[in-house]
Amino acid sequence: MPEIAKSNEGFAIAIDGPASSGKGTVARLVAKELNYAYIDTGSMYRSVALLARRKGIPWEDEETLAELAEGLDFRFSFRDGAFKVVVNGEDMSQSIRTEVVGQGASAVAVKPMVRTALLGVQRDLARREGVVLDGRDIGTVVLPDAPLKVFMDAELAVRAQRRHTELIGRGIEKTVSEVQQELAARDHQDSSRATAPLKQAADAVYLDTTAQTPETVAKQIVALARERGAVDG
Ligand code: DC
Repeated sequence: MPEIAKSNEGFAIAIDGPASSGKGTVARLVAKELNYAYIDTGSMYRSVALLARRKGIPWEDEETLAELAEGLDFRFSFRDGAFKVVVNGEDMSQSIRTEVVGQGASAVAVKPMVRTALLGVQRDLARREGVVLDGRDIGTVVLPDAPLKVFMDAELAVRAQRRHTELIGRGIEKTVSEVQQELAARDHQDSSRATAPLKQAADAVYLDTTAQTPETVAKQIVALARERGAVDG
């Protein structure tokens, strides 16, 4: 009966936004506070890009990429605020965090067949329990009926500064202006593609994180979620 099925479904929070808008950090804080699962959907596109590169599959080869994506077994875990992605038994949580893999993820994400291959996995995960998903098309395509959608953004210069600090922390030397150019290029690719572009859903709450800490933003989202009936996991 539909009522019973519905009561077993968890509350889903969809968080979308451009690169370095703070959505990952905020999504993890929200999931931790509510004791929900957390799925970083960008990690799936990143995994496809990295595995394709290892196998010598060009990021433009849509059919072979989709075949690769269909054959992947994704396992996610979120414990003590840390997100882990295991693909076909390999922990890829760290190896996918490079700039080149980020660009590859954006390139493979343009391909509709790749998106279709990953969509079912994302929807299945969201159905089971209280969950926070972040990405580019969660509120518009993956979970159009999510009870809470957030679109997070920040000024490009501030996002570039954040990303630069993060890269320096990982020992990667780049100027802020190089980082800013790369971010702008990625934003353009993600928002101008024909299928599931980065876009605010009509019913999403817009949050500008330019001058706010992740903790403050997370508090607002948790409050909104509780107002809309989210129960802690
Ligand atoms: O969030 P991220 O930087 O890890 O995402 C990497 C790329 O993956 C991003 O530039 C676009 C793509 N992506 C997407 O198209 N749809 C999603 N739901 C998540 C990521």
